[in-house]
Amino acid sequence: MMLLGTQRINSEGRLEIGGVDTTRLAAEYGTPLYVMDEAALREKARAYLVAFSARWPKVKVSFAGKAFLCTGICKVIEQEGLSLDVASGGELYTALQAGFPVEQITLHGNNKSVEELRMALEAGVGHIVVDNFLELDLLTDLLSEMRGGLSRPQPILVRVAPGIDPHTHRRISTGQADTKFGFDVASGAVLMAVRRALEIPGIEFRGLHCHVGSQLLDTDCHEASVGIMADLVIQVKQQLGVECPELNVGGGLGIRYLASQQPPSLEAFADVVTRVLRDRLESAGVALPTLLQEPGRSLVGEAGTTLYTIGSIKQIPGTRTYVAVDGGLSDNPRPALYEAKYSVISANKAAQPHDQVVTVSGKHCETDLLFPDTPLADPQPGDILAVQSTGAYNFAMASNYNRFRRPAVVLVSEGQADLLVRRENYEDLVARDLMPARLARQTM
Ligand code: LLP
Repeated sequence: MMLLGTQRINSEGRLEIGGVDTTRLAAEYGTPLYVMDEAALREKARAYLVAFSARWPKVKVSFAGKAFLCTGICKVIEQEGLSLDVASGGELYTALQAGFPVEQITLHGNNKSVEELRMALEAGVGHIVVDNFLELDLLTDLLSEMRGGLSRPQPILVRVAPGIDPHTHRRISTGQADTKFGFDVASGAVLMAVRRALEIPGIEFRGLHCHVGSQLLDTDCHEASVGIMADLVIQVKQQLGVECPELNVGGGLGIRYLASQQPPSLEAFADVVTRVLRDRLESAGVALPTLLQEPGRSLVGEAGTTLYTIGSIKQIPGTRTYVAVDGGLSDNPRPALYEAKYSVISANKAAQPHDQVVTVSGKHCETDLLFPDTPLADPQPGDILAVQSTGAYNFAMASNYNRFRRPAVVLVSEGQADLLVRRENYEDLVARDLMPARLARQTM
């Protein structure tokens, strides 16, 4: 059994996280429940900073909020000295509500609206990562409209599609040439974009950005993309005569969903990235930029666990046994979207042998096979299941399908549990529904 972060089996044979018995959490907060291991998250944040700071003169680690964002997590991220990247007006609003230092926020997006750009400019975000030429036009107009209203030029990075095809699931690849994201290298669009950005009053060009893919379990893609980015930094200097004071090489490092997955250590990862960059930049005589990292999954993924309660069990002799839990597609769409695999622990029987192989299914009106071929310990209705590594892109991608109430999030640490997000209630589900008067009046 793979135990992550502060997970351990206590003297009663139950799974504990952050010193709290998971069956107690289930009883107190109900299930499905997202449990975040605060110590595991903080440790990852520190490890990122240590691994890169030991190898590069100036480093910034920015949490990709899309993986898991709520105001409480913003606070933890801020306390650990990380920056934050947001990919929508909603994520930016959350960060601002949490009081996150605005100069440490970066706005992303391949189709930012005027409203989102204005919000970011007015708030004074640290960076906007410009994705396309339309965005440069929109910024030009907004900046001239707001002239005098801004206390300083707006720092921007230019988003590059380095043309690397990451060997991860095709829906979570973002950096290959055939992508909706960023300026492509081969056509010369990157240098054209930098040239344009340099001409726009009110913009301060700070450097380049890329992100090649997600859940990468080796360093090959990063090695290739960082090399391309280093060459671009050199070209910007040689052809346009400007330095890139900053270089953001994105996120993408994978995590352990299964015990068989072995992502590179942070040290090995940082070694590769910094070695490639240093080699290329030093031999070209270009100053080393501040190196920005943008991890999402690898910061929060393993820190999250989802608790479910087992309900009905259906045996199809000679075929399989379905064990249904009280959540599914709505709290974890990743198996359906990406054929994602997870490890599951029978939380109230954690010390018993997990020797019955079943298919854990959800309770949606849909064949939501959540976790096929999963070994459990004598599954019975009422048992609590703990699904590991659900901290990234589960809560963040949850929906109300079948009008399910989205689960609560609880933060655990040193025996203490605190709600970060309350469970939705039935009133929440109809809170935005409106009844047009003409419908209310009509009786058939
Ligand atoms: N920066 C940018 C610009 C990104 O697009 C992403 C993720 C990240 C950073 C963080 O990447 P990470 O370190 O988490 O791999 N919903 C999918 C993942 C989509 C990731 C998209 N971009 C999933 O559930 O696997």
